[in-house]
Amino acid sequence: MKVVVLTGAGISAESGIRTFRDANGLWEGHAVDQVATRAGFGRNPGLVNRFYNQRRRQLREVEPNAAHFALAQLEQRLGDDLLLVTQNVDDLHERAGSKRLVHMHGELLKKRCIWCEEVTLCNPEADLGPGDVCEKCGREMGMRPDVVWFGEIPYELDRIQAALETADLFAAVGTSGLVEPASRFASKARVFGARTVEINLSESARAAEFDEHLYGPASETVPEWVRRLVGDGGELKVETAYRFAMS
Ligand code: APR
Repeated sequence: MKVVVLTGAGISAESGIRTFRDANGLWEGHAVDQVATRAGFGRNPGLVNRFYNQRRRQLREVEPNAAHFALAQLEQRLGDDLLLVTQNVDDLHERAGSKRLVHMHGELLKKRCIWCEEVTLCNPEADLGPGDVCEKCGREMGMRPDVVWFGEIPYELDRIQAALETADLFAAVGTSGLVEPASRFASKARVFGARTVEINLSESARAAEFDEHLYGPASETVPEWVRRLVGDGGELKVETAYRFAMS
């Protein structure tokens, strides 16, 4: 059975990382076009780097939750038949043990040179600033977070498309379904015959595109979903249709 799982900010919410569109969303104090666009970086690279430095520092204070660990367990069971696609730029899936992982919106722990496009790992203990020098071309004033901003092309879309076309099951976890192209993944997978399940705190904007719905905190619903999928160590069951609201 081939499975594609898409995660969004909601899977990291219980780890203490704010989501984007809750009332006190992550963008607080900063308009999106100030800190999540190329134009915003061009206008004020120091502000943008400070915004991402603060998010990078926060990674040292948070831990993966049961939902991240459950998806790592599912990967142990499925191996290459699972592709985990995350919109998140945190490293919680990796720290929970996931390896077959696509960060379609980039990663907080990576930086990119605007002059030569070289991508390198950030020093997790140090902030990124305009004075940082590119390790490849040696130029400064051009290091930016390797995070995909609005108006930029997400990473590995061909690989994701290929996985959606062959998936038996597609699950979206903790995403509002408001940002393309990820918001179209469920309908794409369905066209190619996959069953689709939405695992979220509440109905997303794309709820109607899912065959099954599992609502509640991800740290409860995802482990339950994986347990029902994997069974008690038996064969994997796609026809796991259940709808229950976790209180
Ligand atoms: N458990 C499960 N779902 C949760 C939880 C939780 N504990 N807390 C919140 N959610 C759900 C919310 O109901 C919402 O539907 O997670 C979703 C988070 O939605 P967004 O804040 O819009 O985050 P996301 O969908 O990941 O945003 C997509 O938009 O801002 C850009 O690039 C950014 O990757 C991001 C993209």
